[in-house]
Amino acid sequence: MTTDTPASVKMEAIVSLAKRRGFIFPSSEIYGGFGSTWDYGPVGVELKRNVKDAWWRSMVRQRDDIVGLDAAILMSPSVWETSGHVASFSDPLVDCLSCKQRFREDELQQDACPTCGSSEGFTSARQFNLMFKTHVGPVEDEGALAYLRPETAQGIFVNFGNVLTATRRRLPFGIAQQGKAFRNEITPGNFIFRTREFEQMEIEFFVHPDTAAEWYTRWIEIREQWYVDLGLRAENLRRRVHPQEELSHYSAGTTDLEYRFPQGWAELEGIANRTDFDLKAHAEASGQRLSYFDQESGQHVVPYVIEPSAGADRALLAFLVDAYTVEPDENGNDRVVLKFHPRLAPYKVGVLPLSRKQPLVEMARNVWSRVRSHWATQYDDSQSIGRRYRRQDELGTPCCVTVDFDSLDDHAVTIRDRDDQAQERVRVEDLVDALRMRLEC
Ligand code: GAP
Repeated sequence: MTTDTPASVKMEAIVSLAKRRGFIFPSSEIYGGFGSTWDYGPVGVELKRNVKDAWWRSMVRQRDDIVGLDAAILMSPSVWETSGHVASFSDPLVDCLSCKQRFREDELQQDACPTCGSSEGFTSARQFNLMFKTHVGPVEDEGALAYLRPETAQGIFVNFGNVLTATRRRLPFGIAQQGKAFRNEITPGNFIFRTREFEQMEIEFFVHPDTAAEWYTRWIEIREQWYVDLGLRAENLRRRVHPQEELSHYSAGTTDLEYRFPQGWAELEGIANRTDFDLKAHAEASGQRLSYFDQESGQHVVPYVIEPSAGADRALLAFLVDAYTVEPDENGNDRVVLKFHPRLAPYKVGVLPLSRKQPLVEMARNVWSRVRSHWATQYDDSQSIGRRYRRQDELGTPCCVTVDFDSLDDHAVTIRDRDDQAQERVRVEDLVDALRMRLEC
């Protein structure tokens, strides 16, 4: 038996399965691809939506202290000047003196060039700003300059006053946002782990300054538990506290949740104590009051902010790697199965008629329409039943419903479980309830 654990899962196996089964394709592939950008296919788009929905459900809908926001990607350039991104959102770059290849200085682990092996050395470091620039309107001059946002957080900070007025919230409360972010990364790679266009899921949680330390600890626990509740194995998760010299310009403390990706332990999500840095800076630069009136003390307070900042694509990659399993099938042959939590599985149910002949097809289609109104499903009638099980295993579908010739007489179908491959016969009238028991845990 060969059971792959995430540590032994090879990224190539994941990339190949992702393409073959329609999860993720290289972007612009017919033109040879486009540097570390990826497109989500029919299955991947369902998986990504499920990751984002699970986050929104737990972090917004099921809490009474967080509201949502969807701010524009293009914002006033003043936002990025004030936030410190124009001045400091940069990586130190060096060029190899021999082959001219460019590297991030902080990622070089040896004196020799990793590309050509030369020991001639490198140029001195220059700061390279990671924000993509563009121009708004018909004139491409400095006055029309705009940036593609490198984080969704600033859209939240500049709307703090609007949300406070519109919702009459009291501290502590949070604003959550999901959306695209862009960074001109120098060393993208490891599939969708680090890309130049990606999606973030961020919360800015505003608290009284006196309670910031307590909320910082609490948010690390909440976010860690979120991954575990969705099936990520606890042994593949760990915390890493940033040392002082590594902290971002706004942070009084940051802890990364790290996942054991195929390339090694790496950041999955960061939880930071951003203090009152952003609200104070925007208030000063804009001349607007960005504070909260505390009824108890009768004073205006600039809240501190605890920020759990996750990447939707990176979370998806962690769930994909963690779910990837190779183990024996019913016949003792290897099968690849994605053991997703049912909430994340792209399709919840596969409906598989044993034959393409009537009246079996009509019955199978009836069964399918019963199930389809409740969950994302797939109807698959091509090739042998064994092959179809394998296909659904590779998509991570938790339940397959087989309609066979006996179904015509006994009005029952077989549910086959993805993980233990056990089969259970249930009456068609009871099918939705039986599936609900398995899927809505
Ligand atoms: N607002 C704080 C912030 O943006 P960050 O640590 O730079 O903090 C937060 O980013 C999360 O966004 C990361 O933990 C990661 O999940 C995701 N992320 C950042 N850069 C990324 C990239 N180039 N590709 C994919 N995901 C990325």
